[in-house]
Amino acid sequence: MVLWSSIINVPDLAVDFFENDTPHGYAKRFMWMRHLQAFVGKTQSCQLNTIIYDGFAGAGVYSNAWDEDIAKYGSPLIAIRVSIEHFITKGKLINRFNARASIEVGPNDGVADYRMTNYSIRVYLVEGNISNFNKLVKNVGIIFDLYAIKFIRKKRSTDCVEIFSADDSISISCRVSHEKFENVDPPHIFSSDRLVAFIDPFGYKHIPMSHVSKFVGLRKEIYINYMSQFVNRFFNVDEEGVQKLFGMAKADIESRLLPYTSDRLDNGMALYKDILKEHCGTEAFALSFEMRNIYNTRLYHMIFISCHEKGLEVMKEAMNAGTQNPTCFALSDFLISKKGQKMNLRNGQKDEDVAPVIFERFKSNQSVSIKTVRNFVIHDTIFVWRKGTLKNLCVNNKITNVLSAAGQHPQRRGTFPDHTEWFLTFAAS
Ligand SMILES: C[S@@+](CC[C@H](N)C(=O)[O-])C[C@H]1O[C@@H](n2cnc3c(N)ncnc32)[C@H](O)[C@@H]1O
Repeated sequence: MVLWSSIINVPDLAVDFFENDTPHGYAKRFMWMRHLQAFVGKTQSCQLNTIIYDGFAGAGVYSNAWDEDIAKYGSPLIAIRVSIEHFITKGKLINRFNARASIEVGPNDGVADYRMTNYSIRVYLVEGNISNFNKLVKNVGIIFDLYAIKFIRKKRSTDCVEIFSADDSISISCRVSHEKFENVDPPHIFSSDRLVAFIDPFGYKHIPMSHVSKFVGLRKEIYINYMSQFVNRFFNVDEEGVQKLFGMAKADIESRLLPYTSDRLDNGMALYKDILKEHCGTEAFALSFEMRNIYNTRLYHMIFISCHEKGLEVMKEAMNAGTQNPTCFALSDFLISKKGQKMNLRNGQKDEDVAPVIFERFKSNQSVSIKTVRNFVIHDTIFVWRKGTLKNLCVNNKITNVLSAAGQHPQRRGTFPDHTEWFLTFAAS
């Protein structure tokens, strides 16, 4: 018998994936980078422990490109670089240009002080493919070397390597595990810890809700790749897989899909988002971003869930910069590769686009607090919050009066100093 694999070159998806990058892949990682930069900055400035978890980490580098641009790296090296850059901007990277040899230690060597929990930024990387795992271990070390940071590499077992900064001013530790995501529990999160997880599988088989739900809740947030096209395609074929993905019986999934009004693919995504929110056990916020392929058909959605408004705001800034579309969060490889549209990746939102949306919502209303307007923009529109929009509304006489609770006007028209809660009167038309 002739083996197919001996006549055709069967690609190894897990490894070949890292040979080529795509616009949607780059945008997905750009948004991860933007979010992490804010997450690391905020948690570290609040003296919290920053815990970054990457459940489908990959090799860390695409096409072996060691680029300046952080978003060109794979998600695990984005996490490491963002963490290192945090200390650089804080001016704490003392020995940046003073490279020293890194130290390798075996499982039984006496470096007991090197423990993940001794570090304020802890990065957990899980990768199921052995070749990618080995590359990743090497690549994390290369990144530390490129920044000339002395580090210790400790092999806990054949399937687990830990890498610790040996520089007191760079508090970063990293554990790389050769495991299946679904078999490893997240670290316990104490009150002084904040976790953000990136879950980026190839399909939907390895992300059962029973496991993914461990990554949402108080002090945790998740940025997950929901493979909408696959799920939709296999919905009626792979009953068991779909049940595991949603964490409920098929009949329950079906009945919960009914109330949704849009198409089936969007419905599934919306339901998945709702289920994740329900698992948070407390009030939770969600955002989603649609990715389209080279044929302009929907491929997957990036879903973000957080129980903290700040988390939502920060991811919204990232998605707002990542979108090509003025009315929803979406990006299409077709528009970029075939139609020549540029990826902008900036918060280019214009005040004059946001102003009519705010006006439509609040026209004829009196005494609307800025907080109310801000909440509306953050939770009910695709825009990010900028006070400049209020100035635009004042200049165009859509806001006719601005008063403090004590009945005073701001000193200058079109300004809204933070020290006072201002109340706005909107025109009728
Ligand atoms: C889409 S790629 C990840 C890309 C990566 N997040 C990035 O941004 O560069 C999926 C990775 O998950 C790995 N993988 C597949 N099944 C896995 C499992 N059950 N657990 C952990 N990793 C798995 C694959 O080997 C592959 O490297």
